[in-house]
Amino acid sequence: MKTLQKFGLFFYFLLPLVKLAPPKQHSATFYDPGLATLEETIFKQSYEDIIFKEDYEDKPQDAVKNKESNDMFLFHENELQMQRDEEILNEGSTNLTDLATCLLCVCLSGSVYCEETDMESVPALPKETGYLYARFNKIKKLKVSDFAEIPTLKRIDLTGNMIQDIEDGTFAKLVLLEELSLADNRLAKLPTLPPKLTSLKANNNFIKSRGIKANAFKKLTNLSFLDLGHNLLESVPLNLPESLRTLNLQFNNITSITDETFCKGNNQTRYVRQRMDIIRMDGNPVILGKYPNAFMCLRTLPIGTYF
Ligand SMILES: *[C@@H]1O[C@H](CO)[C@@H](O)[C@H](O)[C@H]1NC(C)=O
Ligand SMILES: *[C@@H]1O[C@H](CO)[C@@H](O)[C@H](O)[C@H]1NC(C)=O
Ligand SMILES: *[C@@H]1O[C@H](CO)[C@@H](O)[C@H](O)[C@H]1NC(C)=O
Ligand SMILES: *[C@@H]1O[C@H](CO)[C@@H](O)[C@H](O)[C@H]1NC(C)=O
Repeated sequence: MKTLQKFGLFFYFLLPLVKLAPPKQHSATFYDPGLATLEETIFKQSYEDIIFKEDYEDKPQDAVKNKESNDMFLFHENELQMQRDEEILNEGSTNLTDLATCLLCVCLSGSVYCEETDMESVPALPKETGYLYARFNKIKKLKVSDFAEIPTLKRIDLTGNMIQDIEDGTFAKLVLLEELSLADNRLAKLPTLPPKLTSLKANNNFIKSRGIKANAFKKLTNLSFLDLGHNLLESVPLNLPESLRTLNLQFNNITSITDETFCKGNNQTRYVRQRMDIIRMDGNPVILGKYPNAFMCLRTLPIGTYF
């Protein structure tokens, strides 16, 4: 992404002055799939489209006109115009916060891509942002104000930052948020989670069991994927919702479980946890074979040590 950004800046500022050299950057690496989406694919395609159109290299200004159907191009073209106006008039009247974000990052039809930029806090997001990809930065703290004005967010990916502190309420009001990744950070506890969440990745942190509230997952009735692997949990989180399909708890410090951990105790012999497919408990001190009644309601046994 670094190459991409530098090239991006070059593209916007120097292009009018110099003729573009043959496109050596064609091999610029885009980040690996992870939460890859259709948007990302479209992004790649349209980006390559713009860069490598031959006539564009010769006549950038004409190409701009010809490319009017391209969202990304229009967006940046408008911003550049705003930037020029700002420089000419030298007034403070325009709110440039969002503009700055979209120069540092890439903004494309509701998505903001800000990866490997060394940023230390969440940037000001354009209104109506649906998808934020801010992986591999140096963000240390998340504040309520970071997302307070952006209730449209559906996916936030903050994998690989240095987050150790999340103000409570940072995510709670994001009623459309479905996917959240806080993997590979420095968290000791989980923030309050929003109701529509379907996927939470918080693996590779320092989360202890006391950092997860007893009812943290109870109301998340659409939660399907929960990754808490490689943390410091001493027990399985309580009140796991019925919607859960995958539960990753490998490489924690879980020493025991009970008959109520996954099921509902001995009495409820007819209860079956319908959706649960995968429970990973390998890399924990617990010997699962000691708790033969703990898995009665499951369709498959957890992965882990049995003797
Ligand atoms: C500019 O936007 C920021 C963040 O959205 C906001 O805090 C600030 O009040 C705005 N300033 C003006 C002049 O609108
Ligand atoms: C869960 O998903 C369904 C179907 O997408 C939706 O109707 C329902 O409102 C969601 N539940 C919550 C708590 O958001
Ligand atoms: C795991 O838990 C035990 C107590 O059950 C504790 O003594 C030990 O320090 C813990 N290990 C880690 C890595 O936190
Ligand atoms: C099991 O059933 C008995 C009586 O039916 C009840 O007193 C007890 O609380 C139940 N235990 C659990 C764990 O539900």
